[in-house]
Amino acid sequence: MSETTQSIHGQWSGKLAFILAATGSAVGLGNIWKFPYITGENGGGAFVLVYLLCIAFIGVPIMMAEILLGRRGRQSPINTMASIARAEGLSPAWKWLGVMGVVTGFIILSYYSVIAGWALAYVERAVSGAFQGANGEQVGAIFANLTGDWEKQLAWHTVFMVMTMLVVARGVRGGLERAVSILMPGLFVILIFLVGYAVAQGDFQKGWHFMFDPDFSRLNAHAVLTAMGHAFFTLSLGMGAIMIYGSYLPKNVSITRVSFTVAVADTVVALLAGLAIFPIVFANQLEPGAGPGLVFQTLPLAFGQMPGGIIIGTLFFIMLTFAAWSSAISIIEPAVAWLVEKVGVTRHVACLLAGTATWALGIGTILSFNAWSDKTWLGKTFFDILDYLTANILLPAGGFLIAIFVAWMMRRQSVLEELNVKDGPWFEFWHFLIRFVAPAAVVIVFVQAIGLLG
Ligand code: PHE
Repeated sequence: MSETTQSIHGQWSGKLAFILAATGSAVGLGNIWKFPYITGENGGGAFVLVYLLCIAFIGVPIMMAEILLGRRGRQSPINTMASIARAEGLSPAWKWLGVMGVVTGFIILSYYSVIAGWALAYVERAVSGAFQGANGEQVGAIFANLTGDWEKQLAWHTVFMVMTMLVVARGVRGGLERAVSILMPGLFVILIFLVGYAVAQGDFQKGWHFMFDPDFSRLNAHAVLTAMGHAFFTLSLGMGAIMIYGSYLPKNVSITRVSFTVAVADTVVALLAGLAIFPIVFANQLEPGAGPGLVFQTLPLAFGQMPGGIIIGTLFFIMLTFAAWSSAISIIEPAVAWLVEKVGVTRHVACLLAGTATWALGIGTILSFNAWSDKTWLGKTFFDILDYLTANILLPAGGFLIAIFVAWMMRRQSVLEELNVKDGPWFEFWHFLIRFVAPAAVVIVFVQAIGLLG
């Protein structure tokens, strides 16, 4: 296996390119749209604490495992799992872990693209000055107007899918790498600015306490499951996105270091997003548990009141779109690479196939905000079900199997070799986390959450 030094799909130009791409994958709607609203729904501080613990003790170790698998296999997650299993003398059935990842990615992108479409739609609303002087009610009406209109959402969802497939079609360097290296830094700067605004104009104290004072009475098994699932989602783990990015990683780069860098960057962006949003929520007597519309119903209030709000608001939604874009390309990349390897089609055709199927499934999510909003199952709409199934079940399950494979199935020697570290205390610590802590945590949280259902 070590003679495979490069993937047929290409390779990053170096360590920095990988960090940018992996950060581009990790930082997305998960950080800016999802993290604040699930924090709001689950009562704040205690939820944030569990999320941070999951990032540190489950997320980072599994990210290292996923990157090392990718780099060792150098193919799509399905063929990577198959070929490593073969080389390690294990069952070929491990390839099904890759299959599960490809399917998970397909489902995630279908709704991810719809939400990214909202961000695109909001670029237009921001430029046209729609938020100027608007109050909470008016901003809420703008949001309801969009989600109530399936045609508009379909149009934006289509635009976003086309954007995504255009970049993916251009391949690893020309498309993915170039896009992310321009876009990520801009987002960071604008977020810092928004936190500054929240300090000056929002109820920053209340926002801060909400996010960082843990009230454990608000924490139930479901909140813990959501926090853990979100740790996987936000770090792009458990479905092969980071694995396939790892497959384009040059041999000499330290997996440990890049994993830390990506996890820290991702966490900082999520916390900044929370600190930009909650002070505005409290200063305007809005509801922190407003759900998926939270970002879209709070920040526009700030844009409507601040000087230069049209420009800043426009830039914000452009950056949000870009953050979503650089994540979306990684969500579909495993499927595209697999189609190229397995079916033998060109990258362009693979993009068209994967993109069209994803787009079609996305229509279900669009309808779940209007025509199908009352069609629920266990109180969940179509979108809620896809979100729950992927983030709370499939990603943690995928991460669990990745941990089991790397820690219990692969030869220790192969793992050491690919991580390129000495067999010392650091390795032991990581190995302990991935052998016991991460898999046990996933199982315990699953069992608790199932107990709550029964
Ligand atoms: N990490 C991305 C985000 O936070 C979403 C994502 C999930 C990307 C799974 C790749 C794989 O928005």
